[in-house]
Amino acid sequence: MPPRKLAAGNWKMNGTLASLAEVDALTRDCGTAGVEILICPPATLMRPMADCIGRGIIAVAVGGQDCHAKESGAHTGDISAEQLRDAGASYVIVGHSERRADHGETDEDVAAKAVAAHRAGIASVICLGETEAQRDANETLDVIARQLAGSVPDCATAANTVIAYEPVWAIGTGRTPTNDQIAEVHAAMREALVARFADGAGFRLLYGGSVKPANAAEIFAIAHVDGALVGGASLKAADFAPIVKALD
Ligand code: G3P
Repeated sequence: MPPRKLAAGNWKMNGTLASLAEVDALTRDCGTAGVEILICPPATLMRPMADCIGRGIIAVAVGGQDCHAKESGAHTGDISAEQLRDAGASYVIVGHSERRADHGETDEDVAAKAVAAHRAGIASVICLGETEAQRDANETLDVIARQLAGSVPDCATAANTVIAYEPVWAIGTGRTPTNDQIAEVHAAMREALVARFADGAGFRLLYGGSVKPANAAEIFAIAHVDGALVGGASLKAADFAPIVKALD
């Protein structure tokens, strides 16, 4: 059976309690779409969002946007994967390019965070992607191969790991790679996963970077695109619902 498609929203540092109304509207609009919906809100909203799920108000999975590799300790401002799970998370994004750029996270750091997620019993969404300079220098496939090898830990399985290809230059810019460029990277990621993991064919591969209602269907038709990691267009139900439906 092909893996269930995943529509993931990364709210980044956006949203307040009032934003839960958007998830309520999304649930009502998308009903029981045959697509898994994941929202990764700021940490402040995880428990209230999970409580809405518990009360049957919304029907999405909740995820964190990052976690610390350790379970607990003197790490001011950080959150462990265990704490995310305690707050209702079943996923956590690790290795987003904004974390790699703003916090200097390396592939090794990202792999350690993914291991922590798996230790806590939550799935990791591991982000990879080239900068514009790397694409211009024709280094995209090398960068992706290196990041995938370094950021995806050996304990990864199709059940506990999702890979998101997010070209840095496409994030929040309104620009996207061509369909051929997305297809090339996703095929390369699939090939690397199949070569390394017994269940490599089952890992879900998301595309992220300026996904919007107008381009979603076209992107989802590309081979080895099993869903999307959506930033700006996941904040409003009116934008995210058509993307979820395009995946259904
Ligand atoms: O993680 C999602 C993200 O980086 C893409 O953002 O706003 O281009 O959809 P956006």
